[in-house]
Amino acid sequence: MKLTEFSEIWGVVGPQQNRTKCPEYRAYNAYKSLKIAIEKGIEGDVVELGVWKGGISALFGRLCEDEGKGRVAWAFDSFQGMSECNEHDMAEGEDAVRLAREPGVQLHNFDLNDFNHTCFDLMKLKTSCVRAVPGWVNDTLPRYAPQIKAISVLRVDLDWHEPTLDAFNYLYDKVSPGGYVICDDFGYWKGARKAILDFRNARGIEDPIIQTPNIDGSPLPDIKVGTEHYWIKS
Ligand SMILES: C[S@@+](CC[C@H](N)C(=O)[O-])C[C@H]1O[C@@H](n2cnc3c(N)ncnc32)[C@H](O)[C@@H]1O
Repeated sequence: MKLTEFSEIWGVVGPQQNRTKCPEYRAYNAYKSLKIAIEKGIEGDVVELGVWKGGISALFGRLCEDEGKGRVAWAFDSFQGMSECNEHDMAEGEDAVRLAREPGVQLHNFDLNDFNHTCFDLMKLKTSCVRAVPGWVNDTLPRYAPQIKAISVLRVDLDWHEPTLDAFNYLYDKVSPGGYVICDDFGYWKGARKAILDFRNARGIEDPIIQTPNIDGSPLPDIKVGTEHYWIKS
């Protein structure tokens, strides 16, 4: 993997610009997954659900544009914050759900203009490489999923149980063999983890779940610090 290429992208969307909630190791995992998928010729678009200001979607868009083969980075988000949570949505020992739903919290304080600014002003992408789908995913997925033929990288970062399950129900079957399924919230939000594990059980999916390592490949200390996990679809 070219660390210089990743560093350039991270310089555009990373902490200085505040365009993503993801720490560097998760952005690097997004980068690495799509790079490998491109190198291996894994078919399909890239789909991120829960994109906030679009830093990771812009990273995906940059790689799609540079590949130049018409791969598109789809970005599903309400662009107005979190939906209602249900009884499964909690994080270990913290009042995290209440905090995540506070109007002042940055998860609500953004809109589609922020996303467009990230992708088109900062990352300077062609509009054809990125497709934003604004709205609650239970409304947008039934309408837009049929337009997505295949997926090489599916990145789910919606925090809550219900939309996470919607994402898997509508999109998992489109992930190509060898494609990446990245679950940002697996180690932190219990509802998202339940949705993912229930889906895997119901479908008999046994592909090993891998904890995303640190950028240097070293393991992260525990499931909560190293919250992101992924698997490669067999
Ligand atoms: C943790 S943030 C995503 C962070 C993002 N991946 C990044 O790189 O910064 C969770 C996102 O999920 C979105 N969201 C939550 N529930 C949603 C729903 N039901 N439908 C659509 N978007 C939703 C929120 O608007 C928020 O942008």
